[in-house]
Amino acid sequence: MSEPLLDVRVRAKRYDGRTVLANTRLAIHAGEIVSLLGPSGCGKSTLLRIVAGLDRDFEGEVALRGVRLDGPSPELGVIFQEPRLLPWLDVANNISFPQHARGAGAQQAAVLLDEVGLPGITGAWPKALSGGMAQRVAIARGLFSRPCMLLLDEPFSAVDAITRARLQDLLLAVTRAHGMAALLVTHDIDEALLLSDRVLVMQPGAEGTGGGIVHELHVTTPRPRERHAAEDAPLRRVLLDRLAARDEEDRTATAAAP
Ligand SMILES: Nc1ncnc2c1ncn2[C@@H]1O[C@H](COP(=O)(O)OP(=O)(O)OP(=O)(O)O)[C@@H](O)[C@H]1O
Ligand SMILES: [Mg+2]
Repeated sequence: MSEPLLDVRVRAKRYDGRTVLANTRLAIHAGEIVSLLGPSGCGKSTLLRIVAGLDRDFEGEVALRGVRLDGPSPELGVIFQEPRLLPWLDVANNISFPQHARGAGAQQAAVLLDEVGLPGITGAWPKALSGGMAQRVAIARGLFSRPCMLLLDEPFSAVDAITRARLQDLLLAVTRAHGMAALLVTHDIDEALLLSDRVLVMQPGAEGTGGGIVHELHVTTPRPRERHAAEDAPLRRVLLDRLAARDEEDRTATAAAP
C-alpha cells in the first residue's frame, strides 16, 4: 500500500505522571475518512490534539507525507465540538483569522460560506447564529487553509438530530469536493458507520498502562450510505461488542477481587 498521508506513533502520553495513551499507531491515507470510537476518557481527544499539533508533550511523532510535524499545520483543519467563534469578529473574519488573513480573505470566506450552505452572511455576528449555523462557519474556517485533512472532535454532538444529519451530509460533501481525508472522534456508532471507511475502537488501558486502539473495522459499503441500514447490523454488533469488552473486563476484575 502507498505511504500514508498521516502517520502517528504515540509511544506514551502522560498527564501528571499517569499514562493515558501507550503504543498507539494511527495511519490515514489520502481521501480516507477514519472514525475514533471509544468510551469517555479513553484518550480520543488526547490523540486528536496530538495529531493537530496542539499537544507536543508526548513520546512519539506525527508525520505528514513522511515529514515530521512539530506543531499545528495549515494542512490540517481542526473542528471542535463547540464552534469556538470569536464574538468580536464577524463571520468572514472568524473564517480567515486563524490563518492571519484578516481582511484579505473576505472573498474566499464568502465562497466557503456558499459551500457550507450559508451564502451572504459574511458580515453577520456570531451571536446571531444558531448552533448549527455556527458549526457550519466552523467547518468553513477549517477549510480556509485548504487542508488535506480535517480533524474533528465530536463536531455534531451539540446539535439536534436533523441538524446533525445535515452536517454529516455536509462533511461528506466537502471531503469529497476537496479530496480531503478526515479523522473524526465520535461516540455514535451509527455516525461512524455512516461516514467512515474505517472505524478504530479505542479503550483505556488497565490501571496506569495507557489506552489505545484495540480494534479496526473496515466499512466497505460505497457512499452515500443509507442511515441505519439493515446490512450494517453485523458491523454495529461488532462495534458494540468491542466497546462493551472493556466493561466486561472491569466487571470480571471487580467480581474476582478479594
Ligand atoms: N489536561 C489534562 N490534564 C490531566 N488529565 C487529562 C487532561 N486532559 C485529559 N486528561 C485525562 O486523560 C484521559 C483521556 O482524556 P480525553 O479527553 O482524551 O478522553 P476522551 O476519550 O476524549 O473522552 P470523552 O469521550 O469524554 O471526550 C482522561 O482520563 C482524562 O481525565
Ligand atoms: Mg473527548
